[in-house]
This record gives sequence, C-alpha cells and structure tokens, in this order.
Amino acid sequence: MAADAQDKTPKGGPEHVAIIMDGNGRWAQSRGRPRLFGHQAGARRVRDIVEACPDLGVKYLTIFAFSTENWKRTQTEVSGLMALFRRYIVREARALLSQGVRVRFIGDRIRLDEKLVAMMDELELITSHNDLVHLTVALNYGGRDEVTRAAKRLAYEIEQGRLTHKDVDAETLSRFLDTHVLPDPDLVIRTSGEARISNFLLWQSAYAEYEFVDTLWPDFTPEEFARVCASYAHRDRRFGAVKA
Ligand code: IPE
Ligand code: IPE
Ligand code: MG
Repeated sequence: MAADAQDKTPKGGPEHVAIIMDGNGRWAQSRGRPRLFGHQAGARRVRDIVEACPDLGVKYLTIFAFSTENWKRTQTEVSGLMALFRRYIVREARALLSQGVRVRFIGDRIRLDEKLVAMMDELELITSHNDLVHLTVALNYGGRDEVTRAAKRLAYEIEQGRLTHKDVDAETLSRFLDTHVLPDPDLVIRTSGEARISNFLLWQSAYAEYEFVDTLWPDFTPEEFARVCASYAHRDRRFGAVKA
C-alpha cells in the first residue's frame, strides 16, 4: 500500500473483523432462485470486502463459510457449497496472491474432501509470504468443536509427559486452537438480521464487539462495511475494568 493511502487509514478502527456471512439462502429465495444461486452471489461479495480491508485498516478478516452444523443441510446444498469452495480457490488464488492477502483456513479438515483440502493447503502455502491482509476462512468450523479438539491435543501432550496439568491455563489452551497465530477479533459482524453467534469463534470473541445488520450477505457492500467499522471506533471497550 502506498504511504499516502496509509495516512488515510481511519483511526481507532478494528484490526481484526470476523464476519458471519448469513442470508444467502433468503437472498436467492426472494428472487425465486435456488439457494446455491445465493451462495454464488455471496462468494462474489467476499472479494469486495477483502479488497476494502487495507484502506479501513483491517489487517485480519475472518469469515464463516461453513459450520460444523451446516452438514445438516440437503446433500444438494452441501455438495454445491463444497464445489463452490473449490471454484473459489481456483478463481481467486491469483488475485489474492497479487493483492498481498495471506489466506488461512480454520476448522476440522478431517471431514472435507481430500481434493479440497489439498487446494486449501496449496493456497495457504503460496500466500504465506503475504502480510497486507490476513484472510482466515472458517470451513467446517465450530467453536465447540475447536475447543474440544484443542483440549484433546492438550490432554495428549500431558499423557506424553510433555506438559503437566499445572501448565493448563487460558494462554496454553489457546495455543492449541486453530486460531493460535491470530489476535482475537475486535468486531464480529453478522448479516441477515439474526442476532446469534451460531458457534462462531466462541473462545476468541469473549470480549469482541458485535454488530448485527439486517442486510443479507450478498447485498453487504464495502460502503456498509466501512460504516460498521467506523461505528466501532466510537465504542468504549472496558474489558471488565472501570475507567479512571
Ligand atoms: C449463509 O447463508 C451461508 C452458509 C451458512 C453456508 P445461509 O445459507 O445460512 O442463508 P439463510 O440464512 O438460509 O438465508
Ligand atoms: C452460520 O449461519 C454459519 C455460516 C454463516 C457459515 P447459519 O445460517 O448456519 O446459522 P443458523 O442456523 O441460522 O444459526
Ligand atoms: Mg443462515
């Protein structure tokens, strides 16, 4: 990013924004189209939002693409989404690489198709030298599942004698989370009017600010994103303390 662009970065904005990209199905249904049509429109939106990050001072963007509960959907929708993730990687890899975006995936890869996992690994590897924006895609991700997997690995380390129960504290546990290299989110946005967290970043969002907007994800523009980020700057985050 050019130095003058950096100067225009809004002060006090969120460094890490996490988004629950909800409302694709309703967006499609309101147009009399199949749900997958909405997911395709939603995937296109991701690019606009990623591109808006540098000017807004958003260094980390974490997006919820598929939850551990989304397997409950029809086979048609699930396989359509998996095909969409593969297409997204093929189509976007070059742009992400050239735009300075470092891509990571969080979630349990075990249930994902081998070919998709190989593509995810490859995208992580080829973008690993980028540092302008850190895009993390939560795919087959669930907060409870993540904490459970972390606890299991921690227990294994204890079983092997590499750690003892006295080492178990919040800092140690968080080192076993999928997000161990990321800061906690400052702001969590959910689109589509639902005011719930649906198992997203449960541990990491302990002190996040939340913004629930009515807009359906495919209609969420960079302008609205900028407005939500700007309103974050006016919030008073106390983290349990009392201001002097
Ligand atoms: C979010 O949109 C995308 C995924 C969960 C994959 P939805 O598919 O949940 O859309 P609505 O909530 O049914 O409108
Ligand atoms: C959360 O949305 C998951 C993603 C956005 C990927 P859902 O649409 O699955 O959540 P619920 O079912 O409304 O809680
Ligand atoms: Mg939904």
